Amino acid sequence: SEKAFVMIKPDGVERGLIGDIVHRFEKKGLKLVRAELKFIDREIAETHYGHLRHKAFFEELVEYITSGPVFAMIVEGTKAVQNSRSIIGPTNPAEAPPGTIRGDFGLDVAANVIHGSDSVDNASREIDLFFK
Ligand code: GTP
Ligand code: MG
Repeated sequence: SEKAFVMIKPDGVERGLIGDIVHRFEKKGLKLVRAELKFIDREIAETHYGHLRHKAFFEELVEYITSGPVFAMIVEGTKAVQNSRSIIGPTNPAEAPPGTIRGDFGLDVAANVIHGSDSVDNASREIDLFFK
């Protein structure tokens, strides 16, 4: 079945949110099939966020994502990409409804707790990038 790449960002790890967030994916019915706590280097960060290279906040984004360990996960299940995005919520926590991960745990778009793949193709690219 479908796989999604999900990553708890350094702020989420630092704040001790791994258990709560993993629990939400499990309650939703998505299966955790692989997970690793790790530092990502600048090269992986720049590749992962390559589509945002032209943005004014790109350097800030790379600094943030490499500032501490992330908790990288592969979750599996029916429409894993769409279902994981729906429990994560919109990019900006200020616009994310209560009940979503970003709505419940975030304040700021620059430190929004978690990443989730936005398409099946990107999920497979991200899984290869982070787990190889
Ligand atoms: P991801 O799941 O992390 O990919 O988020 P997304 O798909 O909801 O949003 P997008 O891919 O457009 O942006 C990637 C990440 O860039 C966001 O999750 C934020 O961490 C960061 N970001 C987006 N907008 C801003 C901004 O205005 N300022 C800063 N500092 N970071 C931003
Ligand atoms: Mg994205």
